[in-house]
Amino acid sequence: MTDPQPAWWQRAVCYQIYPRSFQDSDGDGIGDLQGIIERLDYLNDGSERSLGIDAIWLNPVYPSPQYDFGYDIMDHQAIDPQYGTMEDFERLLYEAHQRGIRILMDMVPSVTSHLHPWFVESRASRRSPKRDWYIWRDAPRPGKRPNNWQGVFGGPAWTWDVKTQQYYYHNSLPEQPDLNWRNPEVAQAILGAMEFWLRKGVDGFRIDVLNYVYKDERLRSNPHCCGRRPYEMQRHVYDKDRPEAVDAGIRMRQLVDRYPGGMLVAEVYVNDPREAARYYGEHGEGANLVFNFSFMNAPFSAPRLRHEVDRWEQAIGARGWPCYFLSNHDNSRHASRFAAGRATTARARVAAALLLTLRGTPFLYMGEEIGMLDGIVGRHERLDPVGVHYWPFHPGRDVARTPMQWSAAPYAGFSSTRPWLPVHPAFATVNVAAQEADAGSLLRWYRRLIWLRKGSAALSFGGYQALDGVPGGVFAYLRVAGEERVLVALNFAARRRCFGLPGRGSGRCLLGWPERAGDAVDLGHIELEPYGVLIVAL
Ligand code: NOJ
Repeated sequence: MTDPQPAWWQRAVCYQIYPRSFQDSDGDGIGDLQGIIERLDYLNDGSERSLGIDAIWLNPVYPSPQYDFGYDIMDHQAIDPQYGTMEDFERLLYEAHQRGIRILMDMVPSVTSHLHPWFVESRASRRSPKRDWYIWRDAPRPGKRPNNWQGVFGGPAWTWDVKTQQYYYHNSLPEQPDLNWRNPEVAQAILGAMEFWLRKGVDGFRIDVLNYVYKDERLRSNPHCCGRRPYEMQRHVYDKDRPEAVDAGIRMRQLVDRYPGGMLVAEVYVNDPREAARYYGEHGEGANLVFNFSFMNAPFSAPRLRHEVDRWEQAIGARGWPCYFLSNHDNSRHASRFAAGRATTARARVAAALLLTLRGTPFLYMGEEIGMLDGIVGRHERLDPVGVHYWPFHPGRDVARTPMQWSAAPYAGFSSTRPWLPVHPAFATVNVAAQEADAGSLLRWYRRLIWLRKGSAALSFGGYQALDGVPGGVFAYLRVAGEERVLVALNFAARRRCFGLPGRGSGRCLLGWPERAGDAVDLGHIELEPYGVLIVAL
């Protein structure tokens, strides 16, 4: 199905920036807003010598004590001095808009920092006017917690407050108390913060864990199930995914809709795509986009990835527009995940072709375009609470957050001083400058894919139809908009694969690996090299 007038975010290629690790401009080892401004031309200078991205999702830059690296917000309407000033932010917005790049802020509606004035006031006394802004409960009996809920980062989800003799609830760290969305003032306050940024001119928001905003009204204990970690030993039916969370998304959407072009992309980290798709709203009145997390858990396998695409297409149906990503700041990078020590760049190239030719808005995670691998972060360098808590069983999330590799200069050109997390040792070869100079590099491949997509109605917003009867290891599909028909054939196998589309004559290769652009392709006999890619105009 083709929408004749797609919204900007349907056509967009988005890019996630983890600001702490993108570019340090003031030599403190931490990335900042000025650093991002200096790199905007790399993202899009209007020419095919740049990446050509249309929007940036900026991880949180609000004042924060950084227990959870910005997801513990102290003030939703200011900028953390580590990253710059409000003037810097306004300049970033202006400079980005000058280049046709939109800015999506990260909004965290479900928790705040324990140092947020709202929580400080809430915790001050049981009679505080903000007491009910958070989730406080008595101990059912001395030393007993209100229910069995666990924190997602480890440990119980309830912390005892000695002064006021009650427990407060926190799904993440004790330093991140959960807001009580059942109090209408809370919803108003979060929507008010969103409006503050919309008035400034931001183009929308990535909504952090939208499915966590409401908890069961009666705070019932979760049923038990099998799992490795205590958090996984429960079915999370009462502490998240409550039906009211969809309504919260609808209210946010109503707000952004009042600002022309405003959009919402929701993080809903669940395994079942039907569950995630609910956040589009029954008739598309919810989030404009919902991230599909299924690629995160899928191996580098044509049938598995096709299965995930088909499930997502089916779950969304006509009510929404798909959204895909391969990596983000919370998970192992896909170059590492998919390669498993083999054919790293070749596999990353196929994965990029998939991400950038599917029907749905792609989000790139900074550095994937040069094939950045998971960082190597020693035990004593770990900073992420997940990695610290679960040592040695979980690598933690620092590995996905190491500094962007710009060049072979000291500290990869990210900073003039030792960065907050170690630079990946491969930076001398895996970096932007080296790949800009190499016509066969992954970076140049990403650029070609992105500009091809931008110039093609079929690839950017056309329909999707998977092809059956292709050989094992191949994922092939058609993208169609009006008269324009494009065949995408991806070989996930390390061997050559051949197949045919009899009776279709020949097509013209738009982009191929190995290089074949411009060649005529006999559709009756399509040959794919190991990890080969063919994108063909029919
Ligand atoms: C989701 C964010 O992506 C993650 O980085 C954060 O730690 C959790 N929300 C909890 O705040």
